[in-house]
Amino acid sequence: MVRSVLFCAVLAAFAGLGTLSAGAGGQRPSPIQVGRSAAAASIPYSEAKPILERLDAILPADLAGRPASRIESEWGAWVSRRNLDIRARLERGDEDSIVNFLLFGTTFTRQPRALNDSSRIGGSQRDAEIVRGRTADLIAAIAAPGANERLQFVRELVDRRDIDPTTSAGREQARLYLVDLMARVAGEIDGYARTIESVRSRPDGPEFAVRSSLYRARGLSSDTSIRPDFAIDQALETLAAKGMLVAGSVRRVAIIGPGLDFTDKSEGYDFYPQQTTQPFSVINSLRRLGLAKSDDLRLSTFDLSPRVNLHLQAARRRADMGDPYVVVLPRERDGRWRPDLIGFWKSFGSRIGEETTGARSPVDGIDVRAVGVRPDVVSSIDVRDVNIVVERLAPLTDDERFDLVIATNILVYYGVFEQSLALANVASMLRPGGFLLSNNVLVELPTTPVHAIGHSRVIYSDRPDDSDDIVWYRRQ
Ligand SMILES: C[S@@+](CC[C@H](N)C(=O)[O-])C[C@H]1O[C@@H](n2cnc3c(N)ncnc32)[C@H](O)[C@@H]1O
Repeated sequence: MVRSVLFCAVLAAFAGLGTLSAGAGGQRPSPIQVGRSAAAASIPYSEAKPILERLDAILPADLAGRPASRIESEWGAWVSRRNLDIRARLERGDEDSIVNFLLFGTTFTRQPRALNDSSRIGGSQRDAEIVRGRTADLIAAIAAPGANERLQFVRELVDRRDIDPTTSAGREQARLYLVDLMARVAGEIDGYARTIESVRSRPDGPEFAVRSSLYRARGLSSDTSIRPDFAIDQALETLAAKGMLVAGSVRRVAIIGPGLDFTDKSEGYDFYPQQTTQPFSVINSLRRLGLAKSDDLRLSTFDLSPRVNLHLQAARRRADMGDPYVVVLPRERDGRWRPDLIGFWKSFGSRIGEETTGARSPVDGIDVRAVGVRPDVVSSIDVRDVNIVVERLAPLTDDERFDLVIATNILVYYGVFEQSLALANVASMLRPGGFLLSNNVLVELPTTPVHAIGHSRVIYSDRPDDSDDIVWYRRQ
């Protein structure tokens, strides 16, 4: 979850970057919409009603204090509005990814990665120099992005603000825009670290609960990495060992928010095409553990991000033509990974693909594995545009209900009320006895038939706080 990443070095670096612009961004355009699946249905009022009643003290302002009859008559309009509001948060998440790209990307600059620990790169002065250099290099690169999809993406965002990085005035506007973004992100990350510290310092501090909705006001980011994949693999192994999941019992799986690896801030890189890993990792884990039969597993992805959905749909189209999906797995040699995470990295994809040659790392100290996932595995993935807070797939026959739903690093973007709606949507799609695995602790309401029955902890490395807790929820 939230790593102890302090952006103080980055904040310090702003000292040399110039004044923060009040509004280089201008009007925010609405996010791109993809065609909505006919099977995505809004949460009905009848299922939201018990949640509205139980949580009446913490309802959002546009529902608080209203008579039930009025909420009922306006429910459809409220859901549509909230759906759009949530989707509008994608743009800010994309901007967060651009900040990571600027600080840690390797394809557009010769500057070192701007590590969070400024002592590793020579102190805050040097840090400021690096960030300045990276900003200038990124702006020069987006003036002619070529075929680099990440540069094209930054360019699109800048274009939408009517900034032309091919002119000197435009380059200055772009610089101010990027400085603005870095300041916002640094401030937010600092705020999250302070919030976590404040609950930690109290002996009874509800740290996991606070962490579980820490990003409720943040932009919706798509970033992903191998770590949550490993946490889910370990949780499935424990559930199998305990006999809670039995051989061949998993036929229908859903991944809520599979994500897209743009440039993670610690060990993600940008020298390979954008990719998603969780759907492939989960299929691999289920096969490795014998929980799913290879010819009888159907995995659906539910995401509201057009970028994620279009990426997966394009992968499916290429698979239909016989092309494998290449997953590139970088590992920083001195990342202090625990041996079991290294073992997971080494065997990633062994049941669903073949070792292949991926992109070479332009950075020293990185080992890279690449796996070509077989086309039949990629084609088996069913890609759905679903906003899990207000939507579910419906109607589902008993046979279509899910045995397993995975939701890592997604519910943390919502407060308790929205999480409770999401849980009701998940419950409606799970078969009785089916599991939801999430690295968030959710408020359980007696009226939603999904309850926590245990959890597993995974430690990724010897770095402080580099761990996750996966809570096992089960549908009654
Ligand atoms: C931070 S990424 C996490 C990716 C991956 N699950 C992981 O743990 O690394 C969050 C993902 O959830 C998606 N997402 C956020 N809110 C969502 C919602 N309400 N419904 C469906 N997907 C959502 C985002 O678009 C993104 O793909």
